[in-house]
Amino acid sequence: MTIFNFLIPKAKVVYVTTNHTVRQTLERMQAHGYTAIPLLNDAGTYAGTITEGDLLWFFKENTNLDIKKAEEYLITKVMRSRNNEAVNVSANLDMLMDLSLRQNFTPVLDDRHMFIGIVTRRDILTFYQQHASISDNEETFFNPTINKIMARRSIRKYTNEEVTYEDIETIVDAGHAAPTAVNRKPVHILILQEQDKRNELYSRHRRGQLISEAGVALAVYGDTTIEESDFLLNNDCSAAIQNMLIAIEALGLGGVWIGCKDEEWRNLVSEVYEVPKKYKLYGMIAFGHPNEVKEAHQNADPNKVHLNKW
Ligand SMILES: Cc1cc2nc3c(=O)[nH]c(=O)nc-3n(C[C@H](O)[C@H](O)[C@H](O)COP(=O)(O)O)c2cc1C
Repeated sequence: MTIFNFLIPKAKVVYVTTNHTVRQTLERMQAHGYTAIPLLNDAGTYAGTITEGDLLWFFKENTNLDIKKAEEYLITKVMRSRNNEAVNVSANLDMLMDLSLRQNFTPVLDDRHMFIGIVTRRDILTFYQQHASISDNEETFFNPTINKIMARRSIRKYTNEEVTYEDIETIVDAGHAAPTAVNRKPVHILILQEQDKRNELYSRHRRGQLISEAGVALAVYGDTTIEESDFLLNNDCSAAIQNMLIAIEALGLGGVWIGCKDEEWRNLVSEVYEVPKKYKLYGMIAFGHPNEVKEAHQNADPNKVHLNKW
């Protein structure tokens, strides 16, 4: 999820520019029923927020004013009591949430500080209401961990934005935080960051497509000399993979589990990355900045939940 997912683009936003008059502003706000709207400079940068209250005080200070005279005053003559704080479109969602707690709408700017739209508090709340999985349970509705687990989907389309090494480290730490049988810790995680090598995988095997198209990929290996049970080694690696997929979601990234049942594929990855024979590949993850949005999971199918008796 990014700020883009919530953005109401400028073309659909009711705003005024510094060339508008007090009357035009009043009429625009009245026509659309808004109590506050963004004010833009001529060049399209964000200048502040005009509220009903600002206009009320302006009329109180200028008791000689009527609606006709209000035509003579530029909106810039009105003192603004507060300007809604703007956010850069590539800022993280936490920043947007923080601002949305304090203001009804948040202006969104691009890297050149141009106003590109707004995000309203109502849209954010509506989104969470629609996507919160267990909406009849208040405790889980507002539980960010449960919501991330339910929101995680397999994301297979990525933007070109680079994934930071800091994020990769956080994800790998989450993988290693997963439980392992008898606490043997047989899991190793190989980071496939270099593009050329990932391209080589794809040039030699069709399973490499997502891995070459993603921002980064991870390969999860089990040490067969530490955990001799293939069953448990598979469990250990799978727990690490799932932890990492949730961490990827929590960081605002998107990823997908790549199964590694095919021995030819496993041998190829191990050959290209020179992995010693005692490590077996159990699964991979391709991930990056998401370029697709999917619905969150809903409540579990009750036919697949068995309470005390099948
Ligand atoms: C063991 C395992 C192997 C998977 N292998 C692949 C794969 O090779 N390619 C792929 O695109 N998705 C793969 N997936 C992802 C599933 O297709 C996906 O989880 C499933 O369709 C449900 O969608 P969701 O993750 O969005 O809930 C795999 C998932 C699991 C658990």
